[in-house]
Amino acid sequence: MAKEPFYLTTPIYYVNGEPHIGTAYTTIAADTVARWQRMDGRDVMFLTGLDEHGQKVAQAAAEHGMTPQEWCDSQVPQFTDLWREFNISNDDFIRTTQPRHVQGVQKFMQMLYDAGYLYKGGYKGYYCTPCETQWTLSELNEDKTCPTCGRPVDFIEEENWFFKLSEFGDKLLAYYDEHPNFIRPAIREHEIRSFIKSGMHDLSVSRTTFDWGVPLPFDSDHVTYVWVDALINYITALGWGSDDASKYERYWPANFHFVGKDIIRFHCVIWPAMLMAAGMPIPEHVFAHGFLMAADGSKMSKSKGNALYPRELIDRYGVDAYRYYFMRDVTFGADGNISHERITQVYNADLANSYGNLFSRVSNMTVKYCDGVVPAVPDSMKDADNPLKDIADGLYEKYRACINDIDFGGALSAVMELVHRANLYIEESAPWNLAKSEETRDQLVFVLYNTLEACRIAALFLAPVMPTTSAELFSRLGLGDPTAIDDVKHASAWGVLPAGNQVTKGDALFPRLATEKKQG
Ligand code: MSP
Repeated sequence: MAKEPFYLTTPIYYVNGEPHIGTAYTTIAADTVARWQRMDGRDVMFLTGLDEHGQKVAQAAAEHGMTPQEWCDSQVPQFTDLWREFNISNDDFIRTTQPRHVQGVQKFMQMLYDAGYLYKGGYKGYYCTPCETQWTLSELNEDKTCPTCGRPVDFIEEENWFFKLSEFGDKLLAYYDEHPNFIRPAIREHEIRSFIKSGMHDLSVSRTTFDWGVPLPFDSDHVTYVWVDALINYITALGWGSDDASKYERYWPANFHFVGKDIIRFHCVIWPAMLMAAGMPIPEHVFAHGFLMAADGSKMSKSKGNALYPRELIDRYGVDAYRYYFMRDVTFGADGNISHERITQVYNADLANSYGNLFSRVSNMTVKYCDGVVPAVPDSMKDADNPLKDIADGLYEKYRACINDIDFGGALSAVMELVHRANLYIEESAPWNLAKSEETRDQLVFVLYNTLEACRIAALFLAPVMPTTSAELFSRLGLGDPTAIDDVKHASAWGVLPAGNQVTKGDALFPRLATEKKQG
């Protein structure tokens, strides 16, 4: 059967910022969804990439004595290397300096121009270069700083091309009414609705005071405003506007744009208005996550010394535990306070003491009591009570409903329910006592098979979040890579683990960590 397409994206990150725990968070969340959808039989297109134009990039290049392109090229590996380390399974990586993108942006701008949505006018207003955002005086903080980042803004007065954004207020509100799940979570939709109701201005979409950008095809003294340029990446990556638009036909409109809450106006107002003007379909959902904050709820910053860095966390906890922690403990959509203390607590409780410990117990017992081979379930036990099967049978539906709703915590807690029940099942059935007599051999074998099967099913559902550990656990059960599965529904059915497979013990999957003391 032909697979149904599924397209999701992360923002394209500014090339001259370092990847940080915020950008890693979005990228890991999108990767989790992409991996799950592939396992669930979808034909996935997962896109991430880099935003390489704009004044900020041009300035940074000049400071480093490089051309803007050389500067961009030198910055790319810090992203691609980290994403590789995190096992990010993106299908494409777009850079806005690529010809396919530049061509697409020019075609798009020409379409807006031809359709009469662009006009030339005088721009007078404020501009935050770090955020590449235009502001009116009334939107600025009282001390006239940027309302997003708190940094000083520039006053700009120049001739620009404008997009008639103000014509789209009512159309956007009507669109949100008809598509109640377009903006998620609901709190962001309220925010966007009140922004629109407060009055929309036309948007300046070009600049003339620097040239590091995509020249407007109908007025080459102007380069395209970097945000407008950047948003179009979601279609140029599909070949729209360059040679081959077949991917566009297949994957557009996107199922999900994942973004941070600070960039929703661009994704929920400007982008859909641009698409409406161009007569193109609008993505199904924009999902905005919250901000990762320091342990005390304050903003993380280098200067305050309270920032946590992806590499530091990877070294301490490992990639899979890193991914697990952020997906398990930080609600996607809300802000989250991040501390070593809490990460250590979740790591020890869920991964070391529950999941890792379960596998270590059952693999040890299989080696000890069954010569390291998955035992066959004896006929005498075929109709016996099986609390693990009862939980596992409902897991696919439960997990799937959660992930489709972007509730990672819910999906993972459904898996942990099986893990916890399996540990309890071992306690209750005490295989070490059953092993004392030949008369209870069938029961012993039954308990071991059930617990091995629970491990397999847990590893299967944990694979989108912890691909390396799941592959390792699968190989210790004599099975192939779970991340290559594309029919998780059938693969997760009870009893798929074949009797006769060799079981290997191996090192602890998650060695226990020393407890982190509360600071201060
Ligand atoms: N280039 C634009 C996006 C263009 S998309 C068409 C951009 N780039 S960025 O490098 O600044 O990326 C910012 C992303 O990181 C945003 O989604 C933002 O919300 C996210 N975060 C920045 N700091 C963050 C935290 N402390 N916590 C979580 N996410 C945060 O914006």
